[in-house]
Amino acid sequence: MAHLELNDIVYFLPDGRQLLNGVGFRVGDGAKTALIGPNGTGKTTLTRIIAGDETPDEGSVSSSGSLGVMRQFVGQLRDDSTVRDLLLSVASPPVRTAAAALDTAENTMIEVDDEKTQMKYAQALSDWGDVGGYDLEPFWDKVTTAALGMPFDRAKWRAASTLSGGEQKRLVLEALFAGSDNLLLLDEPDNYLDVPGKRWLESTIRDSDKSVLFISHDRELIANAANRIVTLEPGVSGATSWVHGGGFATYHAAREDRNARLDELRRRWDEELVKLRALVLRLREKAKFNDGVAARYHASQTRLAKFEEAGPPEAVPLKQHVT
Ligand SMILES: Nc1ncnc2c1ncn2[C@@H]1O[C@H](COP(=O)(O)OP(=O)(O)OP(=O)(O)O)[C@@H](O)[C@H]1O
Ligand SMILES: [Mg+2]
Repeated sequence: MAHLELNDIVYFLPDGRQLLNGVGFRVGDGAKTALIGPNGTGKTTLTRIIAGDETPDEGSVSSSGSLGVMRQFVGQLRDDSTVRDLLLSVASPPVRTAAAALDTAENTMIEVDDEKTQMKYAQALSDWGDVGGYDLEPFWDKVTTAALGMPFDRAKWRAASTLSGGEQKRLVLEALFAGSDNLLLLDEPDNYLDVPGKRWLESTIRDSDKSVLFISHDRELIANAANRIVTLEPGVSGATSWVHGGGFATYHAAREDRNARLDELRRRWDEELVKLRALVLRLREKAKFNDGVAARYHASQTRLAKFEEAGPPEAVPLKQHVT
């Protein structure tokens, strides 16, 4: 069982700009949710908040299950990290810690070969065994074979930057979908994938029993893999979210309905404002000649002030395009 729930997330960028303004949605057990929105609306930032890399200024994130994250930069790796590093980056925190300790101990052994170093190395090997490190190798072997067509032994020291963008993505995706995390957060998993790769991704998301939240700008992937769609909508004081509880086939109609409703609410608000202002003016004129109207005149002023203070209903969001 795995779920994710965001409540009223408010987030300000370091430069003081408000990026998110009350974002909230839920990804239920086994749901496949697409998170969409124009460039720069805050989708990646939201994944960083969910992953715990950033703390929201207001609101809360709660989840059950074990979270696996594929970040947007996978596919553009240019540093000297290896295939093994890339696989480790989506392994569990205890595995990552044990692997780092083992690497350090091995490197130290190359330089000093005293008893203390040997003890440390023995401890690191034993910790590696304790976190299931030895079982990971056959698992990674399946992953590299599926993603790169080569066994882990041959792939592991290869620089990840020498893999194509699509191969980097595929490697991480194979590891996450075959792995034990049951709540997956995927930031633009389809980027760099060729057509067969995209088809594979669509069916892998759809057929998986994990809960998946994925960010995409690709309407085919959204249409073929998502059964819920969360839209981040830019606004003057940060993005808000709108949740469509169905797939892409019904998305546009639902969105137009909702926008028409917002339009209607706004029109009614404007009409009411005109009426209230006219009433205040009328009563002001009457009050000049009739003392008995003064109380009604003041009441109408208060009503207008309150109405204006409450402000108009939510504005219809800017048009967005999903390509
Ligand atoms: N540390 C930071 N300081 C200032 N601005 C930042 C910082 N991090 C992100 N931003 C800005 O926040 C906005 C949202 O960025 P984010 O990466 O979350 O967008 P996105 O929705 O994922 O966009 P895309 O679809 O292009 O991936 C952008 O305008 C970005 O420039
Ligand atoms: Mg992004």
